[in-house]
Amino acid sequence: MEQIIGNINGIGFTLGDTILELSYLIAALLFVVGLKLLSHPESARRGNFFAGGGMVLAMFTTLILHKDAGGNSIQLTNVWIILSALTIGSVIGWIVARRIKMTAMPQLVSLFNATGGAASALVALLEFPNADMNNLGSVLVTVLGLFIGSVAFSGSMIAYGKLDGKVKDIFSGVMKYVNLLLLVAVVAISVFIMISGQTPVQLNWAIYLLLGVSLLYGIMFVMPIGGADMPVVISLLNSFTGIAAAMAGFIYNNQAMILGGILVGAAGTILTLIMCKAMNRSLLNVIIGSFGGGGTSAANQEGGDMKEISLSDASILLSYSKSVVIVPGYGLAVAQAQHVCHELEEILSGKGVNVRFAIHPVAGRMPGHMNVLLAEADVPYNQLIEMENINPDMPNTDVVMVIGANDVVNPAALNDPGSPIAGMPIINAHLAKNIIVMKRGRGKGYAGIENELFFGEKTRMLFGNAKDSLQNLVNEIKSL
Ligand code: TAP
Repeated sequence: MEQIIGNINGIGFTLGDTILELSYLIAALLFVVGLKLLSHPESARRGNFFAGGGMVLAMFTTLILHKDAGGNSIQLTNVWIILSALTIGSVIGWIVARRIKMTAMPQLVSLFNATGGAASALVALLEFPNADMNNLGSVLVTVLGLFIGSVAFSGSMIAYGKLDGKVKDIFSGVMKYVNLLLLVAVVAISVFIMISGQTPVQLNWAIYLLLGVSLLYGIMFVMPIGGADMPVVISLLNSFTGIAAAMAGFIYNNQAMILGGILVGAAGTILTLIMCKAMNRSLLNVIIGSFGGGGTSAANQEGGDMKEISLSDASILLSYSKSVVIVPGYGLAVAQAQHVCHELEEILSGKGVNVRFAIHPVAGRMPGHMNVLLAEADVPYNQLIEMENINPDMPNTDVVMVIGANDVVNPAALNDPGSPIAGMPIINAHLAKNIIVMKRGRGKGYAGIENELFFGEKTRMLFGNAKDSLQNLVNEIKSL
């Protein structure tokens, strides 16, 4: 037995306890500093490293120094099991993260979310038999951890399936009521568990029923949500995972887990609200609306001619412009054309053209997608201009070059109240003097609607894979 070196409120603590608590404090600081550094692309890698370091520190000090209520350390067999699980999980995570394509990142985030939710739900399920039924607070965190963790798990799996095209949107008016019924059932079972006065063994059936209903609710909650709203939902599920982890932290009375969970929960909630604002929609509207489900917009039936531009005309127009704004979108990521795009920007800048990139908050398929993509190609950050700052300059812009973007420059968002993207702020490319659009053909954007910009008087289409078109353009401008 370790020597007691002091006591707080009559509870003695050892040197090991002190080091453990200190390591949690350091871990907490590393989480906060890491989160702060994550807010800028230049420092994001360091931020990830700091926050990850905090987590590794907390895990290892817990393994070595944690004591149960009886003052016993974690059994050696359990230490080996935990280390093996950690190793297997880390190797799988490492391989998957290295192999994943940038465009499939949201799917990966969903899968990681799902595992976090499942882990927290399992903690609650396995610790329920040890719950002190006379302590309502402790039963409440167990029940909440199980419910929120299960919803995060099943909801994230459905989100993964949808993003990967394996699960289709299923929307029916009845689902709203089914979801409400499931929520009422969750509350009823939870209250019963808390006030029935029965032992955990007697309540075994109720806790498994709660697990089942919560899993079902997660599925039904995400199923009807429209494709283009998926990033908001993933961010919301991410915050659920954080809250569930915090609940698991309460169950174990582990400060590092509580704090880590709360930080993830808070960051996820803030990101959810920022994305809703960027799309000009309320969270409730995202959850019960069906954005991206088609809509009755006039632009949906848009047909007509798109006017093409030749490579040589495009290169002359760009070379003799004073200001060019590039609007990157999902297609740029698909084509992996960021490097050649940077090359074009450098050549034009060398000719005295003022070239800037207009960044829409939901361009691409994940928050900050375009920033990450362009940073990968070493485009200087000061050339990336946020939508609200670039829009006032649009009427004075000689050429806007839309590269693989569609929804984020669709004027229907501004002038067609029937459009599924009505109200979403856009980059006002249509106000520029000339617009060149690079895309492969007549393919629609994520919201599945037509874009009147492509049929406009000032718009010229440069059809083809963005990488090939940009490379050809670079060659053409070089030969001018
Ligand atoms: P989108 O509206 O998805 O349009 C992308 C366009 O790129 C398509 O019209 C496609 O037309 C073209 N394209 C695809 N591959 C290409 C290639 N290899 N070369 C050239 N063009 C290519 O993209 P966006 O404007 O970036 O808008 C993003 C949309 O996704 C929004 O609706 C947003 O709400 C949603 N969303 C955003 C996120 C986040 S958080 N960023 C996450 C999920 C969904 P062609 O087929 O004719 O080439």
